[in-house]
Amino acid sequence: MRSRTARSATFEAPPNIALVKYWGLRDRALVLPFNSSVSMTLDRLRSRTTVRFDPSLDEDAVELNGAPAAGGPRAAVVQLLDRVRALAGVDERATVRSRNNFPTASGLASSASGFAALAGAASAAAGLRLSPRELSRLARFGSGSACRSVYGGFVEWSAGRRPDGRDSGARPIAPAGHWPGLVDLVVIVRGAPEKAVRSQDAMQSTVRTSPAYARRLAEVPGRVARIRRAIRRRDAASLFPLVMEECDSFREVCETTVPSLDYLTSVSRAVLAEVRAINRAAGRLIAAYTHDAGAHIHVFALRRDVPRIRPRLRSLPGVEVVRLLRAGPGAHPVGSRPGVPRGRPR
Ligand code: DP6
Repeated sequence: MRSRTARSATFEAPPNIALVKYWGLRDRALVLPFNSSVSMTLDRLRSRTTVRFDPSLDEDAVELNGAPAAGGPRAAVVQLLDRVRALAGVDERATVRSRNNFPTASGLASSASGFAALAGAASAAAGLRLSPRELSRLARFGSGSACRSVYGGFVEWSAGRRPDGRDSGARPIAPAGHWPGLVDLVVIVRGAPEKAVRSQDAMQSTVRTSPAYARRLAEVPGRVARIRRAIRRRDAASLFPLVMEECDSFREVCETTVPSLDYLTSVSRAVLAEVRAINRAAGRLIAAYTHDAGAHIHVFALRRDVPRIRPRLRSLPGVEVVRLLRAGPGAHPVGSRPGVPRGRPR
């Protein structure tokens, strides 16, 4: 179908931080993971993306943070647009403008927010009325972790078992307002390197080469169940040790990958050591670290303990800033018109 007028839509979507990491694909084409993962959708940070299908264009024009995109990043966007065109029966090319209100490639999961916003904007501009579940599935083809950013609050992506992936998908565990006392202190470290290898490539080399991967896979389902329960009960005493155990397991399989994957800098490692020292001084776990495939560290804590934790993290040499974030809403349309789907949990 070729319409004569340009059609556009804008979506915003947040990044998320994984409490249980997605790391390893059982089916790369369908983006089906080996293990289920759990995340918290972050407030304040977001990608805002506008897609405009335009009959006068000969090719897709993609602009990321004010600069034309090329190479791999552009190809990933065009691939998702092609999927939307096929679903909607649209053949027009599009302009895509996307902007983050936080540094890109800083390890703050800009691919999750970016692809959740792109999936929302592209499908709405193409006239598709997707349910949150369908939107999440579409976003997953851009970036695995993006399927969780469609939903706000606490989210689980079930790995599923079926080869066709029909039983694999994200769903909310608890809404954004569920646990107001829980905060994520995001420690931004100076000189964080840009990701050299896309996570999907890195995780598959872990699957192939890490001797610790099979043990991790056996442990993760139990950890997912315990973390889900701790979130539902707002039980920090149970949650915090599990979050760090999971992070250590993720780091172990990365480090034992051949060639080894090391996402941390010496400053990141100093932050992990400081969290351990803070907990020793408190005589119990009042702070829990985690990190994704990047150098910045997320430190979970209860609001009341922040004054004991934040100044110590801030004063470490090489720490640029410590931002206080909470659980926030999922992807949603901006300036919605009738017929534009709402990317909110049902
Ligand atoms: C460590 O979803 O970023 O953040 O599909 O290559 O974009 P791509 O991978 P991505 O991988 C996320 C890996 C992780 C863990 C997680 O978010 O679950």
